[in-house]
Amino acid sequence: MARRRIIAGNWKMNKTPSEAKALCAELKDLVKNDDVDVVYCVPAIDITTVVEAVAGTNVQVGAENFYIEDSGAFTGEISAPMLVDAGVKYVIMGHSERRDIFGENDILINAKVKKAFAAGLKPILCCGESLALRKAGTYKEWIERQITWDLDGVTADQVKELVIAYEPIWAIGTGETATADQAQEVCGFIRELIAKLYDQATAEAVRIQYGGSMNAGNAAELLSKPDIDGGLIGGASLKPDFGKIVNA
Ligand code: PGA
Repeated sequence: MARRRIIAGNWKMNKTPSEAKALCAELKDLVKNDDVDVVYCVPAIDITTVVEAVAGTNVQVGAENFYIEDSGAFTGEISAPMLVDAGVKYVIMGHSERRDIFGENDILINAKVKKAFAAGLKPILCCGESLALRKAGTYKEWIERQITWDLDGVTADQVKELVIAYEPIWAIGTGETATADQAQEVCGFIRELIAKLYDQATAEAVRIQYGGSMNAGNAAELLSKPDIDGGLIGGASLKPDFGKIVNA
């Protein structure tokens, strides 16, 4: 079964609403491709602007974060129903920056996966190892543990709709990309893990992205690998280069 490619930008904490509007206009013609799911995951304050700016195009909007309760006394947070109402389709969770800087653990991330599905959002679930674990050679055990925790209680039908992003921390924003073979090794391992945790049909349906310094120059090679179904792109999603990645 052919999996549909998904190229998602992770804007992180970049772009004011007016800058976001300008970036959408700049990218508009460059990201046209009806064979690829194109997603802009943007700061919460930019969501309304970006949803308006991409209306009628092939671009879908994602959020970078949310909290697991629907409403209430959670100062500073936004909920899944708020995202859905604003027109958001995807949401990132488990990103290493949220794990490391904001202390999010796999128990919370697991709750986010379940909540996103319950609310009608598609999770982009990130995993990935540090440089120390890569050097120690225990990166696959680490990723197995992350995914196993994060998907606890998640059904096979849900996993078929899930996007998993493999993002080695040592490659994020560093200019150091995993080689296509290194990325394929782990993405293939993740697919085998899904087959083990669920079944073959689920493993074949789940979409797996690579993320970490993906750019216009290396995207085609990474995306040519059998288990790499797309990319989660930080720095290069803020530039016209993003269009080249979409069309790589
Ligand atoms: P990068 O970020 O492309 O800037 O390395 C990727 C990510 O953190 O999602």
